[in-house]
Amino acid sequence: MAKKKPGRKDELLKILLYPLDWLEERSGLVGGVRYFLFRKVPGDISWGHTLGSASLTAFIVQAVTGVILAMYYKPHPDTAYESIRHITDDLWAGWLVRGMHRWGASVFIILMFLHMGRVFLYGAYKYPRELNWIIGVLILVMGMMEGFFGYLLPWDQTAYWATVVGVNLQATGPFVGPFLGDILRGGAEIGPDTLARFYSLHMLVLPGAIAGLIGLHLYLVVRLGVVSPPWTTEPAGDERPGPPPAARSGLVAPSPRGARRR
Ligand code: HEM
Repeated sequence: MAKKKPGRKDELLKILLYPLDWLEERSGLVGGVRYFLFRKVPGDISWGHTLGSASLTAFIVQAVTGVILAMYYKPHPDTAYESIRHITDDLWAGWLVRGMHRWGASVFIILMFLHMGRVFLYGAYKYPRELNWIIGVLILVMGMMEGFFGYLLPWDQTAYWATVVGVNLQATGPFVGPFLGDILRGGAEIGPDTLARFYSLHMLVLPGAIAGLIGLHLYLVVRLGVVSPPWTTEPAGDERPGPPPAARSGLVAPSPRGARRR
C-alpha cells in the first residue's frame, strides 16, 4: 500500500473548510455561531435548562410539517376537508406529517409551559431578564392563538363548532367584543372569508411573528446569560477557584464520571 504523502490531511481539511472560511471572511457568521455554541454558562446548569431548546425544536417541527401540509391544503369550505382527507389517506407519509403537526401543536404548548415553569422557579424573570420574560409571554399567547386558528382548518364538524364557540366567546366581551367577533369571522357568519383569514393568520402572520420574537428571545439569552439554580453553590459574581478551564474542555476533553467540570 502506498504511503500517504505528508500534509495531505491538512490539504484535504483546507479544501473542506474553504466554504466556511469563505463565508466567515464575508459575514463573520461562523464566528457568531461559534460564540453562540461555546459561550460561557454556569457550571451547574441542568436538564431544566434544555426546555427552551426543546420548545425551539418543537417550533421548528411545526414549521417544517406545516410547510409540507400547506403544499396540499386548499383553504376553501368546498375543498378544505377533502384536501385534508387526501393528505391523510392518499399521500405517502401524509398521515405521519399531519399527525406530527397535530400532536406537535400540543407538545409545543406543553414544552413552553414547562420552560416557563423552570424560568419562574429559578427566578430568571427578575432583573435584568424582565424583557425576555415579556417576550416569552408574547410567544406563549401567540402559540396558543396558533392552535385556535389552526383548529378550524380541517373544516369538519368539530372544527366548525369549536370555532363558533371560540368566536362567540370573544364576541360577548364588553365594548370591543362584537367588533372583535366581526373581525375574526370576516363578516356576520363563519364561512369562506373566515377560513381564508384563519389560514393566513395561522401559516403566515403568527409563525412569522413568533419566529421574529424567538430570534429576539435568543439574542437576549446570549446577551444576558442563563441563571444558576436557586440552590447553586456558585453564586453569580463569585470568583471560581483554580485556573480557568481549557477551551472547549467540557465538550472534547473526557473527564471521569461524576468529576466536576469547570
Ligand atoms: C417558542 C418558545 C420559546 C423558545 C424557543 C424559548 C427558548 C429559550 C432558550 C433556548 C433559552 C435558554 C435556555 C433555557 O433557559 O432553557 C430560554 C431562556 C429564557 N426564556 Fe424562553 N423560550 C420560549 C418561550 C418562553 C416563555 C413562554 C417564557 C416565559 C414567559 C420564556 C422566558 C425565558 C426567560 C426569562 C429566559 C432566561 C432564563 C435564564 O436566564 O435562565 N421563554 N428560552
